[in-house]
Amino acid sequence: MRRAYIAGNWKMNCTIAEAVSLAEQLVARLPGDANADVAVIPPFLAIAAVRKALAGSPIAIGAQDVYFEKNGAFTGEISTAMLKDAGLSFALVGHSERRHVIGETDAIVRRKLDALLADELDVILCIGEKLEEREAGQTEAVLERQITAGIMGLTAAQLTRVTIAYEPVWAIGTGKTATTEQAQSAHRFTRNLVAGMFSREAAEQLRIQYGGSVKADNAKDLLAQPDVDGALVGGAALKADSFLGIIAGA
Ligand code: PGA
Repeated sequence: MRRAYIAGNWKMNCTIAEAVSLAEQLVARLPGDANADVAVIPPFLAIAAVRKALAGSPIAIGAQDVYFEKNGAFTGEISTAMLKDAGLSFALVGHSERRHVIGETDAIVRRKLDALLADELDVILCIGEKLEEREAGQTEAVLERQITAGIMGLTAAQLTRVTIAYEPVWAIGTGKTATTEQAQSAHRFTRNLVAGMFSREAAEQLRIQYGGSVKADNAKDLLAQPDVDGALVGGAALKADSFLGIIAGA
């Protein structure tokens, strides 16, 4: 049985004080018997303060992005060693906003994933189709391309550090959630693909989060799908009430 994994991606929101206040509320109110692994992903500048606020709690903390070079003349970028130094255990790669707003390619996403694994950090690899791709019947082809580029050739041990987040681009921040059938179908497709690339055992261990307008009132149904193992939450992660409501749905 895969344990649910709920991560809150705060994106480019929150002052440091707001981030600390949100973290403190989560620490105070997260039930001791929560049925999920829980993580928050604050903006870089709030990480040190949020880490302090989370000290001693089971809530993990990750980064929204990372750069693949080790150090040097890469103005504005953050390395995997810097993430470790700041006490982080994982980072997102390939979020749709980085792919489609910032212009990251599959190859860049892969270099970031490789850099994180080389430094023994965990990864949430985000994948997902755009609306026009879904309407053109290309959803599975897009997922296959992103997954193959993202994880083909990893060792079985490296794969245990990877979580995949299926986030249909048309559902992110739009209030439009994928139906439970659409989510389950994409997750099943993803798991079967990973089984073919690695093994059925590895695929059964892989956690696949759903992301895209997850809210307290739709989380339970989504998380009840056999291949939906958690959620990557944006907007609803910015309020303790709604994020805790999602965790309660696990
Ligand atoms: P959303 O964002 O929950 O606001 O749709 C999800 C995400 O981008 O990870």
